[in-house]
Amino acid sequence: MSRLVVVGAGGHGKVCADVATLIGNWDEVVFVDQKYPEIKSCGRWPVVASSLESLGDCEFSFFVAIGDNHVRAKVYAECTELGCSPVTLIHPNAVIASDTQIGAGTVVCAGVAINIGVKVGDCCIVNTGSTIDHDCLLGKAVHISPGAHLAGEVTVGDYSWIGTGAATKQVLRIGSDVMIGVGAAVVSDCIEPGIYAGVPAKRLSRRDPF
Ligand SMILES: CC(C)(COP(=O)(O)OP(=O)(O)OC[C@H]1O[C@@H](n2cnc3c(N)ncnc32)[C@H](O)[C@@H]1OP(=O)(O)O)[C@@H](O)C(=O)NCCC(=O)NCCS
Repeated sequence: MSRLVVVGAGGHGKVCADVATLIGNWDEVVFVDQKYPEIKSCGRWPVVASSLESLGDCEFSFFVAIGDNHVRAKVYAECTELGCSPVTLIHPNAVIASDTQIGAGTVVCAGVAINIGVKVGDCCIVNTGSTIDHDCLLGKAVHISPGAHLAGEVTVGDYSWIGTGAATKQVLRIGSDVMIGVGAAVVSDCIEPGIYAGVPAKRLSRRDPF
């Protein structure tokens, strides 16, 4: 029997379990979460253990559904070191053009459009209704939030997070560890790590984003 184990029984985990169930490649979708045995279910899926290690073998595929980009990447690396196989989850109602690459451990949610020539790294979240236009390059553990839009040829560095409904001009660079705020209009490069917000987006130097 084929089993997919989703790591992280929160709201995002529920979304990922639903995508996996719609894809239909696995006989069983279950969660592991540190909060087990206090929590025993997440949505309609069971939480069966506190970690992948405690399942005792690696006869299953896994997906890490943790929102924090750095934590997700760390847990993903740990699970891979155990010898378990990561999967990529693409919602059946996402539109993915030809000549694209979507990394291992990445989820592409409902209503997403990814255009030709795009590369999305490992362990990313491409969230509901976002769009990534032609030739964009996304590093690892990036999160494109619901309804965010990247115009063509935009690069996004590792661990960066594009907030809900933010939009970018074409051909610009967003560095690593950059947080773009909800609704921002990004019209120039955002290279230094930090929080950028507003219309047009400006760096808010008050605090580290992560
Ligand atoms: C930008 C952001 C990270 C700032 O968070 P924060 O550092 O906790 O900031 P605060 O909420 O304390 O707000 C500080 C100031 O920035 C302003 N501000 C916050 N977010 C802003 C945004 N997106 N655009 C413009 N101004 C914003 C606040 O109004 C406040 O202004 P004031 O000092 O004049 O009162 C956060 O508001 C944000 O946009 N997060 C993205 C969330 C998201 O997309 N989630 C998706 C989940 S899937």
